[in-house]
Amino acid sequence: MQNKIPATSAPDVITQGRELSALARQLRDDINRHAHHYYNLDAPTIPDAEYDKLFAQLLALESAHPELKTIDSPTCRIGGSPQPAFRQVQHDVPMLSLNSAFSDEDVIRFDRRIKDQLSSNSDIAYAIDLKFDGLAINLRYIKGELTQAATRGDGFIGEDVTQNVRSIRSIPLRLLTNKPPEIVDVRGEVLMFTADFERLNRHQRQAGDKEFANPRNAAAGSLRQLDPMVTAQRQLRFFAYGIGLLQGATMPVSHQALLLCLGSWGIPVCNEQGVVQGANGLLQFHRAIQLRRPHLPYEIDGVVYKVNCLADQAVLGFISRAPRFALAHKFPAKEALTQILHIDVQVGRTGAITPVARLAPVSIGGATIANATLHNADEIARKDIRVGDTVIVRRAGDVIPEVAAVILEMRPVSTKPFFMPSHCPVCGAAIVKPNGEAIARCTGSWIQCAAQRKAGLLHFVSRQAMNIDGLGEQLIDQLVDRKLVTTAADLYTLDVNALSSIEKVADKSATKLLQAIAASKASTLSRFIYALGIRHVGAETAKELASAFGNLPDLQKANEERLLQVKDIGRVIAQSIRSFFQQPLNNQLVEKLLAVGIHWPAMPTASQAVSPLAGKMLVLTGTLPHLSREHAKHLIEQHGGKVAESVSRKTNYVVVGKNPGSKFQKAQELAITMLTEDQLMRLCTST
Ligand code: IVH
Repeated sequence: MQNKIPATSAPDVITQGRELSALARQLRDDINRHAHHYYNLDAPTIPDAEYDKLFAQLLALESAHPELKTIDSPTCRIGGSPQPAFRQVQHDVPMLSLNSAFSDEDVIRFDRRIKDQLSSNSDIAYAIDLKFDGLAINLRYIKGELTQAATRGDGFIGEDVTQNVRSIRSIPLRLLTNKPPEIVDVRGEVLMFTADFERLNRHQRQAGDKEFANPRNAAAGSLRQLDPMVTAQRQLRFFAYGIGLLQGATMPVSHQALLLCLGSWGIPVCNEQGVVQGANGLLQFHRAIQLRRPHLPYEIDGVVYKVNCLADQAVLGFISRAPRFALAHKFPAKEALTQILHIDVQVGRTGAITPVARLAPVSIGGATIANATLHNADEIARKDIRVGDTVIVRRAGDVIPEVAAVILEMRPVSTKPFFMPSHCPVCGAAIVKPNGEAIARCTGSWIQCAAQRKAGLLHFVSRQAMNIDGLGEQLIDQLVDRKLVTTAADLYTLDVNALSSIEKVADKSATKLLQAIAASKASTLSRFIYALGIRHVGAETAKELASAFGNLPDLQKANEERLLQVKDIGRVIAQSIRSFFQQPLNNQLVEKLLAVGIHWPAMPTASQAVSPLAGKMLVLTGTLPHLSREHAKHLIEQHGGKVAESVSRKTNYVVVGKNPGSKFQKAQELAITMLTEDQLMRLCTST
C-alpha cells in the first residue's frame, strides 16, 4: 500500500501536494462514512478487511506526509498524555435535569397541565426517548469538527473530557455534512452496553482490580479517566437526545426532526424512539418498552417524554432547573443503599453453602428487601464485604437480591473480614471446598443433614417439579423436625392425624393439602426427573432427558456416552446424572415414589408434537416491526422451533423484516417459505 504514495520532491510539488491532500480527505471521508454505517446503523457497507485497508492507507499517507494529518482524522482518535486533572468547562446553555414520574397518574397530570398551558383541546404529540442509564455529555462541533466534549457536572460547569470522548468510535470527529452549523452543541448520554460491562468486570476480576457495581459506574469511571489510553480500551457508546447551543443554522421544528438531523450528520441516535399522541400514547409506549427492557443490550431506567413541537417547548419553558415540556417516567428502582446487619450461611439441597447477608430492611421498587445472597466465599472476599458495611443492594426482575458493591468510604472502623464456618451449622459435618471450585459444601448427605433434606423437599414440591400447593418452607421445617417426613416418598403417606399434630394447620387446610399431594401423583416424566433434584439438572435439562429417553428405566441405566448424545448435555451434567443413579439410596427412593403411585402418560415423540413450529428450522433476516431478534428467537424456541444463522436447504422458514440481508436472496433462490412477523406470531398462537 505504501508504494502507492509518492514522496513530495518533484518541481510540480504544489499540484502533487494538492492531489495528496484531496486523497487524504477522500480517505478520511470514506472511512468516516463506513464507520458510521458500521457503528451507528448496524449496516456495514464494506467487509472489515477493506475498511482496515483504507485505514492503513490513510495511516501510511499521514506518516509519509505529516502535514496532511488533521485533528478530525480517524487515525487520531486515541492520543494525548495523562492529565493531572480535568479542565473546567462552562456550558453556554445549562444542562438541566428532568422532573420524574413514577405512576400513570403523574403522567396523566403532566399531559393535562401541558394541554392547559398550550390551550389545546386535541391530543398533544409527544416524542419519546429512552432514559439511558449513563452520564450526560455535551459535544461541541465547530464548523463540523468535534472541538470539545464536557461532562454535565453541576449543569453549569462540567469537566473537559475531549481526549477521552475522541476514543469513542461511534462519535464522529467530523459531522457527515457539507453544510455544518457554525457551532452546535450535541447533548446525549455516554453509556456502556451490558455485554461490554460484563466483559470489563471479568477482566477487572482476572487482573485483581476492583469491579464496577453497574454499567453506569463503569461508564462514568471509564470516561473520567485522566489517562485517555485507559478510556480507549473501554467500550463506551453514545446516544444523542438533544441540542444545546446552535449557531449558523435553523433549529428543526420538532424533537423528532432534530434527532433525524443529528442522525444524518452521523451522530448515534437510538432507534428505540417514537412519537405518540396524548397520555394514552405515552402510557402504552411505557408499558411496551418495559416488556422489551430485559432484551435491550443496555440499561435504561425509564423513558423520557418531550413535547414534540419545539415552538411549543419554548412556550412551555422551564421551572427552576427542569423543563416543563419534558418528563422522565421512571421504572421501579433496582438498587438501594443499606447496611449489612450480619452474615448467615444457608445449606442447599446438594449441601452447597451459600452465605446470605441479613440487611437493614430497605424498599427497592416496591418490595422490602431484608436478605441478599452473597453467592460464595470468593465473591465475599473479592468485594470485601463485611458485617457493618453500607452496600448497594440490587434486585433485577425475579432474581434473588444481591450485594453489588460496598461503599468503602462508609465503612465503620472496627469491621473484620468474613470467614466461612468450618462445619455445617445444621448437622455439624465438615464443610469442604474442593480445589478450583467456588462452592463450599456440607459433607453430611441428606441422610445426616436436615437442612439438605428440607431444601430437597422444597424443591420436590416446587411449581416446576411436583407442583404441590400449600407445602411451604415453614410446614416442611416442622414435618422434618418432627420426623414425620424424611424423604419425598413420606409425603404420600401423611394423613390428617399427622398433619393436625402440627400447629396452625387447620383440619380444612390439612384436607386440602392431602388432596394436593394426591393430585400430584399424576405427573409427567420431565417433572419427575426435575423433582429428583439431580445436581445440574434444571427444568429444561429434565425436559430434554424426558424427550430423549421417553421412560425412566432407560435414563437410570444410561451410561455417560449415551447421556452425552442428549441435546445441551455435557460431561459435567452427564457425570452428575450417572453418579446420582449409581447410588442405591437414590434408586430406592425412585422405587418408593413409584410404589406410592406417581405416574405419567407415555411421552409423545417429537413427530407428534403439537406446535406447527416444532422441529422446524427458522432463519431471521432484517428488522422486525415489533420483536427484537432475541425476542423472536425466544418465541420460536418456546414453540419447539430452532433458529439458525444462515439459510440452507434444511431451513423451513425465513422470517423477513425491514432491510433484509443476503439471507433473503438465498431464501428466494432455494424457494423457502417466507414469513412476516405477523405470520410468525400467528403460527405461534395456533396451538
Ligand atoms: S433530556 C432539558 N433525554 O437524564 C432536558 N435526558 O434528569 C435534558 N437522560 O442527566 C435532558 N436519557 O443525562 C434527556 N433521552 C434522554 C435522556 C436523558 C438520559 C439523563 C440526562 C440527564 C438526566 C436528566
